[in-house]
Amino acid sequence: MDIEELRSRALAQLLENVRTGFDPYYQQRYTYVMPSIGRYEWQWFWDSCFHAIALSTLDVELAKQELTTLLIPQRDDGFVGHMTYWGRWGSVFSAIAGQSSFGDWRRRNSGMIQPPVLAQALLRVSEESGDAEYLRLMLPKVRSYYEWLGRERDPDSDGLIGVVSPYECGLDNSPAYDAELGLHLPNRRQLLVKNWLLDWHNALFGKGHSYSHLRERNRFVLIEPFMNAVYADGWDAIATMHRLLDQEDDAQSSEQVRDRTTQALNDHCWDASLGRWIYLRGAQKIPDYTLAVGSIFPIIINGQARGQVAEVVERYLTNEDEFWTPYPVPSVAVSEPTFDPEGESTIWRGPVCMNLNWLLARGLRRHGFTDVAAEIEAKSIEMISRDFREFYSPLTGRGMRGTDFGWATTAVDFLGTSYFTGQL
Ligand code: GLC
Repeated sequence: MDIEELRSRALAQLLENVRTGFDPYYQQRYTYVMPSIGRYEWQWFWDSCFHAIALSTLDVELAKQELTTLLIPQRDDGFVGHMTYWGRWGSVFSAIAGQSSFGDWRRRNSGMIQPPVLAQALLRVSEESGDAEYLRLMLPKVRSYYEWLGRERDPDSDGLIGVVSPYECGLDNSPAYDAELGLHLPNRRQLLVKNWLLDWHNALFGKGHSYSHLRERNRFVLIEPFMNAVYADGWDAIATMHRLLDQEDDAQSSEQVRDRTTQALNDHCWDASLGRWIYLRGAQKIPDYTLAVGSIFPIIINGQARGQVAEVVERYLTNEDEFWTPYPVPSVAVSEPTFDPEGESTIWRGPVCMNLNWLLARGLRRHGFTDVAAEIEAKSIEMISRDFREFYSPLTGRGMRGTDFGWATTAVDFLGTSYFTGQL
């Protein structure tokens, strides 16, 4: 297969998954890519961001529509929920699914968050479209979303944002959340029940999924280094976009937020003897040492000390006993007792996902680890050349679980790097 064939297959997949319509509540048309037909048909926040990234080089006008639709339900305070149930029956689904805040069902927008990849997506779309007008329109909305995160999810202003549910991290069943859920080596049923009860608890008693309030109730709260790395990286993208618009003061204030979160990750979550970051769970911030992908993710941040990045890359990322599997990068390290490379009933307990590979490879290039990034990119292209799947086996690269999966196409963005030529 050559590059152009893979690109057109990716575009065909994304177009097949497009859903459009008119929403009676917002009185607006919506256009977005469903993550996977028959499996996930609503609009998911971070899936949409990755669809826009993939579309930026395939059909940039559609990429713009994806992000525009994502922000239709944005509240005046900046918040955007992790799912939008578009269409006539949206409020019913929003109520039944239990992830909307109580009384907010008509908005058909969940009350929870997902990894903040929105700024990275807008930057990628702006780079490819060169459309300054679109950027000027969208950047204030995107920035206000990150400002909401800072205000509401970091009430102590220590630089770290918190989450109130595993689903907020996007890495739903990661073993890094087991202990805070009160589970040990759980099966699928236990995870589903616990999360379902937590969803309803938060929807009914969470005062609009308020982090401060839920931290007081202390049922599930977590400082996740993955979420914080993506948040800091998002502020870095915001700074870059301000510079594209010649807004130097705003660029500098964005970098300050990025640096504060980076520093806080290093002050509170970095374990010097282990040479990696850790999770802090519960209101008491109990250390959790699970070796899942969050514990290496802050390497992606621009401005992270190169020595520290090098240590994590050497000890963990490129170590075959940890994250350097035949097809990298697994969502959980090989040495972790819960590592389940080919499990499909629970998710994010080992398999590779293209969205994480995109974030990691981009971060590695930024810090000059070009060879490591190129290996991740090459293996990613090999995996998606077979089919577009939700996950892939870190051992054999075979596709797993959801089929015709939108975010798997994110890897086509790697084709822009000089490493790939003509024939794959
Ligand atoms: C799964 C994933 C979540 C994703 C959703 C739609 O629930 O864990 O991260 O957004 O599917 O693809």
